[in-house]
Amino acid sequence: MGVDKEEFLKEFGHDYGYPNGPKSIDEIRATEFKRLDQSGLVYLDHAGATLYSELQLEAIFKDLNSRVYGNPHSQSEASSATLEIVREARQQVLDYCNASPKDYKCIFTSGATAALKLIGEAFPWNWGSNFMYTMENHNSVLGIREYALSQGAAAFAVDVESPVNHGGVKVSLHPVQRRNEAEFLEGEPMGNSYNLFAFPSECNFSGFRFSLELVKLIKDNSERIMEGSQFHKGRWLVLIDAAKGCATQPPDLSKYPADFVVISFYKLFGYPTGLGALLVRNDAAKILKQNYFSGGTVAASFADMDFVKRRESVEELFEDGTISFLSIASICHGFKILNSLTAPGICRHTASLTMHVEKMLLDLRHENGAKVCTIYKSRASKVLCHESGSILSFNLKRPDGSWFGYREVEKLASLTGIQLRTGCFCNPGACAKYLGLSHSDLLSNLEAGHVCWDDNDIIKGKPTGAVRVSFGYMSTYEDAKKFIDFITRSFVSTPYKSGNGNLLRPRSIPFSSEGRGKGYSSVSYLKSITIYPIKSCGGFSVESWPLTSTGLRHDREWLIKSLTGEILTQKKVPEMCFISTSIDLNRGLMFVESPRCRVKLQINLRIDSYTDTKEEIELHAKRFEVQHCANDVNLWFSNAVGRPCTLLRYSSSKDTCKNRAMNMCRDVQSRLSFANEAQFLLISEESVSDLNNRLSLNVRKGTHETPLQVNPMRFRPNLVISGGEPYAEDGWRSLKIGSKSFTSLGGCNRCQMINIVHGSGQVQRSNEPLATLATYRRVKGKILFGILLRCENTDKPGLQTDSWLQVGQEVNPYSE
Ligand SMILES: Cc1ncc(COP(=O)(O)O)c(C=O)c1O
Repeated sequence: MGVDKEEFLKEFGHDYGYPNGPKSIDEIRATEFKRLDQSGLVYLDHAGATLYSELQLEAIFKDLNSRVYGNPHSQSEASSATLEIVREARQQVLDYCNASPKDYKCIFTSGATAALKLIGEAFPWNWGSNFMYTMENHNSVLGIREYALSQGAAAFAVDVESPVNHGGVKVSLHPVQRRNEAEFLEGEPMGNSYNLFAFPSECNFSGFRFSLELVKLIKDNSERIMEGSQFHKGRWLVLIDAAKGCATQPPDLSKYPADFVVISFYKLFGYPTGLGALLVRNDAAKILKQNYFSGGTVAASFADMDFVKRRESVEELFEDGTISFLSIASICHGFKILNSLTAPGICRHTASLTMHVEKMLLDLRHENGAKVCTIYKSRASKVLCHESGSILSFNLKRPDGSWFGYREVEKLASLTGIQLRTGCFCNPGACAKYLGLSHSDLLSNLEAGHVCWDDNDIIKGKPTGAVRVSFGYMSTYEDAKKFIDFITRSFVSTPYKSGNGNLLRPRSIPFSSEGRGKGYSSVSYLKSITIYPIKSCGGFSVESWPLTSTGLRHDREWLIKSLTGEILTQKKVPEMCFISTSIDLNRGLMFVESPRCRVKLQINLRIDSYTDTKEEIELHAKRFEVQHCANDVNLWFSNAVGRPCTLLRYSSSKDTCKNRAMNMCRDVQSRLSFANEAQFLLISEESVSDLNNRLSLNVRKGTHETPLQVNPMRFRPNLVISGGEPYAEDGWRSLKIGSKSFTSLGGCNRCQMINIVHGSGQVQRSNEPLATLATYRRVKGKILFGILLRCENTDKPGLQTDSWLQVGQEVNPYSE
């Protein structure tokens, strides 16, 4: 055991690894999560979904394979078996939250979100009601607002605070929202007004655990804690969103009698997905109004008359249709694990890892002493917070104080086999609060094109979200260590220094200064020209080729669109690389071949071989007018990619790139066909050799088993040059190839596409060469290799036919 682990165990040994449990954490990992160590994955997204145990799945399959479960709505023996297992499952859920069946019922739903929707739909909102929720709530809770507002209720977010010298809790209100006020203003609301207060037991952004004392405080003392606001009137009911918190600390409902609690089982023990539950207090269930009726919830109905008699038990009244009974039959095997480790044992285990990682992250410093990591964490008092959870959200800074984008962290983590989560985690309130984003920041981010799950991680110098790691009952010290080592290696700057005789390189890109003197530098020549007529399909190389106003003639002039409207690329359909192309300019023909199609396709490049149909499509925030191809061509491509699709040909582009945040396009001046960023990608053979040397070094250092060498074609270049210094192209501002002038638009940002290999009819993915490039070619969140070019003066009509590139032509760069 290493010194580091000894230190860790000295501090956390009484909490880490289930010291009093039936199995140690190392045994659990070795026997129930073999797949993790076999695949080398470090899984740190347990707040997203935790992992199922392999023994749990074996037990489930054994159970399902040995018993016969029928539809619970019949009278057969198989149906009785189902009813019995469902009854037991409901009891287990109630037991897990220490809820007496006298007081609570367990309604199965398709997830926590469906349970929240059920509450929103069935809650008796009226003009006198309020829906109050903490800022730290998941979108699935915020959505309840739509039901409240549409029925005249007020809705508002609150910050729950525990001011110094106050001795208790205070809520401060964000702006109150109401809709169609005039419509509801006439008269007092009919009957009682019910209010709903919602909070998560553990915030899925920050890991903050709200004290469940809030349940009693809101239910019994709303007037006091809302300090004279008009909103305390009526009866308050409390909803705990335990979707995240339940995995490590289920709410004790005998002590904190919340009216509603929602959970999802995949967050507890990984399997099954698509199953959740609503625990509802019996008296709260009575006020819920169910509109819809269905098989399952109806006792009798007439088809031709407005008559329905609903079932009476709470579960039967709210579980529409046939419940997911085989999934329900599976949950006992998950609970078996949680109960054997015990919830407090899991809570201590995950908290020990969280605290350790938090300390290590906070201790990280750059060479200039600047802090590396900002952790988003509430500093609330004990009244509000119940220990820390199992989540850490953070962002990283460079030595100059600028932020690393969270996508960069995610991309590099995934190359190292670390699975983590980035963004705002569907919790916009917590994200805005912790990152200090105002409404105007959020609106201007939206205007700049930022939406959930996109790549806009930094806008105007501020992060739009964060990186999140979260631990589960099977997480280990080794997982935590690999994660810390990764952050240190990839994001903490260290000075150039000599260690073991080797020159250690700084973390960011060491652009070679060789060959970068002012004026023309050493001469290289054009080694190959490659055209890729169909986006993402194979290309063909030629000795010479004409230039047009969009780049190499016919380059990326076609694309394949699925019938659902998706533009197909190798990222989604790697097999597209097996579609090979060639063009005979003299005959005006394109030939296309695929191992899945017996006949070679021949497409006439003359316009009249196409149908009249034209359409507009959007690609990377640009609009294009495209032409459809004939049906037999579409049929051929549908066979080649294994799904129905159409081949579209570029006709014209409507505009140059408009929204810079939304698109990846570098060339904003010239006309582009379907190329992503620019007309040309140039790769230097010497830079590829340098990369190959580094890849060979990995084998010698023992980090890789087999030597991997890459061919320049792995990068899908249009132009390969040879004869200069490695990476000399990084410093070029412009260049001439023969007599043609090109402007460099800078380095090409590489993605996982270069990790796909297609040898011997098989597609294989690895993490190389991107992982090695990431160690020395990172600039501002990008991993650069090769440069993008624009050809100057090709838009002059006369040049379209005369201007040719020729293999062997001299390449004369101009640097600055
Ligand atoms: C706090 C919280 N609430 C609600 C949900 C939604 O849960 P589900 O995906 O099961 O509907 C999640 C899921 O991430 C969550 O973390």
